[in-house]
Amino acid sequence: MSVLLRRARPDDLDAIMVLERATFVDDAWPVDAMARELANPHAYYLVAVDDDSPDDVFAYAGLLAPEGGDQGDIQTIAVEAGRRGAGLGRALMQALIAEARRRGVESIFLEVRADNPVARGLYASLGFAEIGVRRRYYRGGIDAVHMRADVPAAVTRPAGGAALGAASERADAPDAPDTPDDPDAPEGTR
Ligand SMILES: CC(C)(COP(=O)(O)OP(=O)(O)OC[C@H]1O[C@@H](n2cnc3c(N)ncnc32)[C@H](O)[C@@H]1OP(=O)(O)O)[C@@H](O)C(=O)NCCC(=O)NCCS
Repeated sequence: MSVLLRRARPDDLDAIMVLERATFVDDAWPVDAMARELANPHAYYLVAVDDDSPDDVFAYAGLLAPEGGDQGDIQTIAVEAGRRGAGLGRALMQALIAEARRRGVESIFLEVRADNPVARGLYASLGFAEIGVRRRYYRGGIDAVHMRADVPAAVTRPAGGAALGAASERADAPDAPDTPDDPDAPEGTR
């Protein structure tokens, strides 16, 4: 049994929402917003599963990066509580960054709650720097920290470095269905 990162499919929606609600509780996205994300051709969502149980999602993460644009956004990331601290979050982030590079992204952005040191530590270790703060952006008056990282175009770099780089994605599912762009899609990481 080993962990597999694969492209999220529309039929992963229920499993993703179970994790979404357990993780973000009152700030969970509505199911229709998540469905639009999974169907958005400009988005790239990955899920983590065990290879012998490929429908049981225990982590997911999403990138928004329109083809032809030079900027991308990390939309969300969540790892099931019992699976945290084992490198999954980092692997998902590295896979999204690798996809951003494939799409020609030069700068990648995200927002994170100021009171989330684990996520902030992960992002900082991947080369994200703080570029601003949105005061009292989240429920409960918590600030949002806006972060940005450059995505170097170089195709080779030492393994294991802190630079945005190597994908650890091990498999790809078919592309998400082609649907119109959605102006109501959720914005920013939480
Ligand atoms: C943030 C999250 C995705 C990280 O996933 P993870 O699989 O636990 O992270 P990893 O095991 O890959 O660890 C990556 C880095 O996170 C940081 N980190 C992980 N666990 C940590 C802890 N308990 N305390 C402090 N930092 C920690 C470290 O920088 C770590 O790097 P290191 O292992 O080289 O020291 C996960 O904790 C999660 O789902 N949290 C709830 C949802 C959330 O906050 N999402 C982010 C919204 S912006």
